[in-house]
Amino acid sequence: MQRINLIFVCPFFFFYILYLMQKNNKERLPRPGVVSSSSVASARKSRKKALSVVMDNGLVNVTLSVPEGMVTGIQYNGIANLLEERNKENDRGYWDIVWNLPEAHGNIFDKLAATSLNVVLEDENGIELSFTRTYDDSIYETQLSLNIDKRFILLRGYPGFYTYGIFERLEGWPDINVYQGRTVFKLQEKLFEYMAVSDERQRIMPTADDRARGQILDYPEAVLLTNPANTFLRGEVDDKYQYSSDNKDNRVHGWICPDPPTGFWMITPSNEFKTGGPVKQDLTSHVGPTTLSMYFSTHYAGEPLALTFRDGEPWRKVFGPVFVYLNTLQENDTEPLSLWADAKEQMLIETESWPYSFPLSEDYSFDYQRGSASGRLLIQDSYISERLITGNSACVGLAAPGDAGSWQTENKAYQFWAVADSEGYFLIKNVRPGNYSLYAWVPGYIGDYKYDFYVNIRPGNRITLGALTYNPPRNGPTLWEIGIPDRTAIEFFVPEPSPRLMNQLYSVNQAEKFRQYGLWDRYSELYPSEDLVFTVGVNNYQTDWFFAHVNRNVGNKTYVPTTWQIAFDLDNIDFFGTYMLQIALASANEAELQVRINNPDEEAPYFTTGTIGKDNAIARHGIHGLYRLYSLEIPGSQLLFGRNIIYLTQSRGSSPWRGIMYDYVRLEGPPEYT
Ligand SMILES: *[C@@H]1O[C@H](CO)[C@@H](O)[C@H](O)[C@H]1NC(C)=O
Ligand SMILES: *[C@@H]1O[C@H](CO)[C@@H](O)[C@H](O)[C@H]1NC(C)=O
Ligand SMILES: *[C@@H]1O[C@H](CO)[C@@H](O)[C@H](O)[C@H]1NC(C)=O
Ligand SMILES: *[C@@H]1O[C@H](CO)[C@@H](O)[C@H](O)[C@H]1NC(C)=O
Repeated sequence: MQRINLIFVCPFFFFYILYLMQKNNKERLPRPGVVSSSSVASARKSRKKALSVVMDNGLVNVTLSVPEGMVTGIQYNGIANLLEERNKENDRGYWDIVWNLPEAHGNIFDKLAATSLNVVLEDENGIELSFTRTYDDSIYETQLSLNIDKRFILLRGYPGFYTYGIFERLEGWPDINVYQGRTVFKLQEKLFEYMAVSDERQRIMPTADDRARGQILDYPEAVLLTNPANTFLRGEVDDKYQYSSDNKDNRVHGWICPDPPTGFWMITPSNEFKTGGPVKQDLTSHVGPTTLSMYFSTHYAGEPLALTFRDGEPWRKVFGPVFVYLNTLQENDTEPLSLWADAKEQMLIETESWPYSFPLSEDYSFDYQRGSASGRLLIQDSYISERLITGNSACVGLAAPGDAGSWQTENKAYQFWAVADSEGYFLIKNVRPGNYSLYAWVPGYIGDYKYDFYVNIRPGNRITLGALTYNPPRNGPTLWEIGIPDRTAIEFFVPEPSPRLMNQLYSVNQAEKFRQYGLWDRYSELYPSEDLVFTVGVNNYQTDWFFAHVNRNVGNKTYVPTTWQIAFDLDNIDFFGTYMLQIALASANEAELQVRINNPDEEAPYFTTGTIGKDNAIARHGIHGLYRLYSLEIPGSQLLFGRNIIYLTQSRGSSPWRGIMYDYVRLEGPPEYT
């Protein structure tokens, strides 16, 4: 039963959960003192306020609006509010969803204001609050047909709080598309100036005002800082998409306030509730100062990652918990960057504590309710080795039943992934009960693996699958290859940005210079009239293969299609044999790739992908979007003795951001029979 004896309603309609929990205090706590109603009222009398509730554990106070469940205040380390108080109460810390009815134009942005608060738990170890909103089907044209349950948890001794959400649709509800779901925190601009997304990606950031005084570049998210308050930022580009991460790498990010030294961190202990698998990319933190937890979105993927509900399909899913971790420096430590080191340590602690033992929603699945699957992945490719090859560093995952590779667009269920060791052994832990397909891909090999059988996880199950063998697509011996099959274009030539469009972070961090703004226009400077020609045996993909097949800027904002050539020599040809051209794409945006063989003027291409992709990875500085593999049979009769040329045309012009990124290209000779 709930213990709500610590809540009391004050005049002015406040009520207050007072909960005193001292760090490391193992003794039975004194009964919380009663805060007089006048002190509560006086603390807030300066403003007309709605109802609110405060969660307090002695380390942090978290104030939420009632019944909406917006986080309006976070008091910590002597700072009255880490969130931006100049923002309205529903614009500081909130959950939101972007959705629409199928056929409608424009999207609806819903901040999920709840209508009811339920105190699920309040005892000496913690508090859990549930803010709910139930769908009313009489007004469905304007209301999102989802039942919403937003949860907030404060534990004794923890400087920070957890949040998770349970979204539910019942059978028969109207058709909708849901494009994005996230939690947002907008921090005090005066305090938080240093942002950290990874060890290599952290810097002093411009402010929202700096952006407002800047010059908008080719889209509103990208701004040239022409007059920032911090003069050393002048001339730099700011764009929130420069701080995106693959979900697998997005475990902790946030902001540092130097004085008093304070860290605000978003820790994601598990990706099981995120959509599109471990290499789905999304936003992290960005100028505001803003920190996000993106649960799902169409970013770097497009429409396939929208949740489309049709025919009254029921659905229920738990997103989170994620942990908002706050820290300050240990005594005598004067280095604010220690806050980042400490946040990473806390991230490991949270990750190891997954699944958490404390969330109280019945939809949350505890450790004892989960199972695991283990095995070993081996690769059979007789053109590389007569023996089986170990699936070194294979990504192996359980996701909703589907075709091989379907996990990258799967968006309604949970996914569980593991990375195999150098011998190919994998263990997928903490899997919620259910019926899954087992999927894998292996760095260095093309294509997608899917296990032939469904994997049924039941509570406490430890399924041992033994040795699984992946036969990656392969028809014959490699005649030549360009790139590395790793689902990204990172190994190719990534140019320096234009000197007037730099983000200094990526000048220092050369490994991620693909995140610089405007690289698409560098192609036209390198290849002003003639397109890229890659001669096998002469050219090198690291320096001579531009990372993205983009359109040429011919001036006056006009972009025209381009045709790349792969030139190679054949000393002998099996005219009756079948050659195979493997083209793996790392990204596609409103593109069409046409392939012609030895005849650039042929009107109908030998092969076309048709119009593919809307992952927008070129504009958003991703080095990949969704993965695609095309295996093209080429009869020997199409080939010539001596010089051959494969023409690759991206035929859709008119925009700088229409194009593709290659992952890997390989020509295979006819099969060899031994
Ligand atoms: C929480 O609020 C109470 C009552 O206003 C105050 O006494 C306490 O110092 C606050 N705690 C923190 C961590 O700011
Ligand atoms: C901090 O520095 C003071 C003075 O040097 C020292 O007395 C104290 O023990 C230090 N505290 C810690 C926790 O190291
Ligand atoms: C698992 O899902 C597949 C595909 O939907 C279905 O054919 C199969 O019967 C399911 N197995 C179990 C045990 O539910
Ligand atoms: C650029 O385009 C505009 C509008 O299409 C046109 O009026 C102008 O003449 C063009 N300028 C050049 C140099 O082609």
